[in-house]
Amino acid sequence: MTRTSVILDVDTGIDDAFALLFAARHPKINLLGVTCVDGNTNVDQVIANTLKVLDAAGAGDIPVARGAVKPLLGQSHYAEYVHGADGMGDLGLPDSTRSIDSRTAVELIRDLVEASSDPVTLVPLAPLTNIALFLRAFPETAKKVERIVLMGGSASAGNATPAAEFNVWHDPEAAAIVFQSGVPILMYGLDVFMRPGVTAEEAKSLEASTDPCAQFAGALISAFVERIGSPVTLGDYGAVASVIAPELITTQFFDVVVDTSAGPARGQTIVDRRPPLELEIEPMRLESGAHVEVTLDLDVEGMRNLWLTTIDQHWK
Ligand code: RIB
Ligand code: CA
Repeated sequence: MTRTSVILDVDTGIDDAFALLFAARHPKINLLGVTCVDGNTNVDQVIANTLKVLDAAGAGDIPVARGAVKPLLGQSHYAEYVHGADGMGDLGLPDSTRSIDSRTAVELIRDLVEASSDPVTLVPLAPLTNIALFLRAFPETAKKVERIVLMGGSASAGNATPAAEFNVWHDPEAAAIVFQSGVPILMYGLDVFMRPGVTAEEAKSLEASTDPCAQFAGALISAFVERIGSPVTLGDYGAVASVIAPELITTQFFDVVVDTSAGPARGQTIVDRRPPLELEIEPMRLESGAHVEVTLDLDVEGMRNLWLTTIDQHWK
């Protein structure tokens, strides 16, 4: 079986948790490490949540490192209205006994990429501050990164603002650095993000499973059903699934640029969907636009079933 070596960059929140559980459990994923960043909540809470999720997944000794405490410019914007004050639905889960790696996030990414015998895919599921800092600090190592498969952006509407998706909006300058880096990018954005979900009934089935990972996932979803209703989107998980099951997504290449202005479109990923002929007639190509693979559609049931059968080994 071909395994893909990945590094997840997270701001664990509930859907980052769904992605971490999947990445730690699926046999086709070789989870080299996890880096934490300021996003849904503060980075130290992200670390605590991430360690708890790795415990629930029964994960081995996977290095977890602390990254940026704020965006490159501007202030943090926490999404407590969705994820709760602790980023995990305020469930009061027991603390993990795991310790974090002594290296910073960018050092851990550098070391894991340099040490890997096979190509590494970076999977950012959060604001791109850590990834931008890594690209700027270790450009020679960055050339060895096979691909960046990121949850972020939108070819349509935003969520944090009418124009911008939360991860890009939280740190637009970081996102611009990543998109312009030259590393091949697959953008898994809001155009598909909300569609794979798990219902309240399915969460109860997970809670009733004999698989501890399934019980944890079910409890998490049930708690969020109370907060945000049913179904609960699997969100970030879809980006990880896209790495090992590309048959589940439909993509197209477009030029993309990140708006880093101070105006109402700040943090928008401007995706140039004009027909090619127009671009030839009107050579108004996007300034500093990156040619990005953008996810436009997906197999919802395929995505849902892949997650459910991975999280619960008894799922029928
Ligand atoms: O816009 C959705 C993204 O913002 C997800 O990664 C979610 O976890 C939050 O970080
Ligand atoms: Ca996230």
